[in-house]
Amino acid sequence: MQRYLILNGPNLNRLGKREPAVYGSKTLTDLERELLQFAEDAGIEVTCFQSNHEGDLIDAIHEADEQYDGIVLNPGAFTHYSYAIRDAVAGVSVPVMEVHISNVYAREEFRHHSVIAPAALGQIAGLGFYGYRLALQALMNQTGGR
Ligand code: DQA
Repeated sequence: MQRYLILNGPNLNRLGKREPAVYGSKTLTDLERELLQFAEDAGIEVTCFQSNHEGDLIDAIHEADEQYDGIVLNPGAFTHYSYAIRDAVAGVSVPVMEVHISNVYAREEFRHHSVIAPAALGQIAGLGFYGYRLALQALMNQTGGR
């Protein structure tokens, strides 16, 4: 069975409370529940992890290299400046799809640039929680399992 890791970065544990006009009113638990249901329907396995800490996200990317067929990564604000997370993504062979709930290109200038995207398979932004599902489908289409 294909296995995928959903990796959410800083402040995404605050979904539902955090800037609801931008990120909506649903919580991280709602998101993870939706993705687990999608996985069950699609016949794949999904593991969800969230951390506010850069090093934890890097460790999770390293460990996923041996264990997963793909990673769906929302690096939060690290997207815009973490060369360490970019290097982690570039240094593993497991494909990574970058996801943003909001349309970062319609927001502040500092959000228009992703240092992660050049190392990722692709990027989805602005489609809310649905973007995670699309990213999983892109990975499934890309990898065909191990
Ligand atoms: C985000 C966009 C980032 O700019 C922001 O720092 C986040 C969330 C998104 O999902 O839209 O924390 O990655």
